[in-house]
Amino acid sequence: MVEFTLPKNSVIKKGKTYKAEGATNVRHFEVYRWDPDFGENPRIDTYEIDMDQCGPMVLDAILKIKNEIDSSLTFRRSCREGVCGSCAMNINGKNTLACTKAISDYKGTVKIFPLPHMSVVKDLVADMTHFFEQYTSIKPWLTAESEAPAETERLQSREDRAKLDGLYECVLCACCSTSCPSYWWNSDKYLGPAILLQAYRWLADSRDENDKERLDELDESFKLYRCHTIMNCTDTCPKGLNPAKAIAEIKKLLVERDHL
Ligand code: SF4
Ligand code: SF4
Ligand code: FES
Repeated sequence: MVEFTLPKNSVIKKGKTYKAEGATNVRHFEVYRWDPDFGENPRIDTYEIDMDQCGPMVLDAILKIKNEIDSSLTFRRSCREGVCGSCAMNINGKNTLACTKAISDYKGTVKIFPLPHMSVVKDLVADMTHFFEQYTSIKPWLTAESEAPAETERLQSREDRAKLDGLYECVLCACCSTSCPSYWWNSDKYLGPAILLQAYRWLADSRDENDKERLDELDESFKLYRCHTIMNCTDTCPKGLNPAKAIAEIKKLLVERDHL
């Protein structure tokens, strides 16, 4: 039998417990902590939160920890409305946005980790550099050589505009890509569900004139075809989008193109 020896720094240790003295309505939050400046293993700190003094969302609890208990806790957030995509993290085993997830949706201890299979910058902050380089690679902007109308923007029919529903709402949080096993193992080459949904968003846009070039770029065994329809992406998307369907639509466009 093959035996693996894990590197010493892969062991997550038990950290401190912060008590909410005197509180009667307490919830427990276990939070992943790792600071590269200290050269120590990651640890899990436990925070008791007085729910009578805390907002309803998981991000409210994290902000309370940061503001009142432990200012060294590091995470990203901006809008608190599910719009910026920056508070993506893994909560009780599922990737989601902390600002749109109610604490009451969870029973017992709430366990908070950074997005899986990403390098960690510090605590709950994942390194998104490669993810956004991949985003840039699909040219996420309108490309058209034809002359733009002089007095209006490029217009769409209502029907063509409706084709972007389910695509434009993506906030690039990476919850889907970091829940995709194919992306875990091949993210150096596979674009992953978030970026492929964005690629399809431009293919589906009636104003864009470069479908041929866009499809040529995607028609490659690793960039697109590492998707094996496992559907983790669609299951986890906190915006209720369906990246697996968008990937299937790209594959369909390629098949149609090859049979013309
Ligand atoms: S459907 Fe495709 S992209 Fe989505 S999780 Fe599965 S393999 Fe990844
Ligand atoms: S498809 Fe959903 S999970 Fe994926 S990046 Fe967009 S909003 Fe996030
Ligand atoms: S803070 Fe913007 S999506 Fe959560």
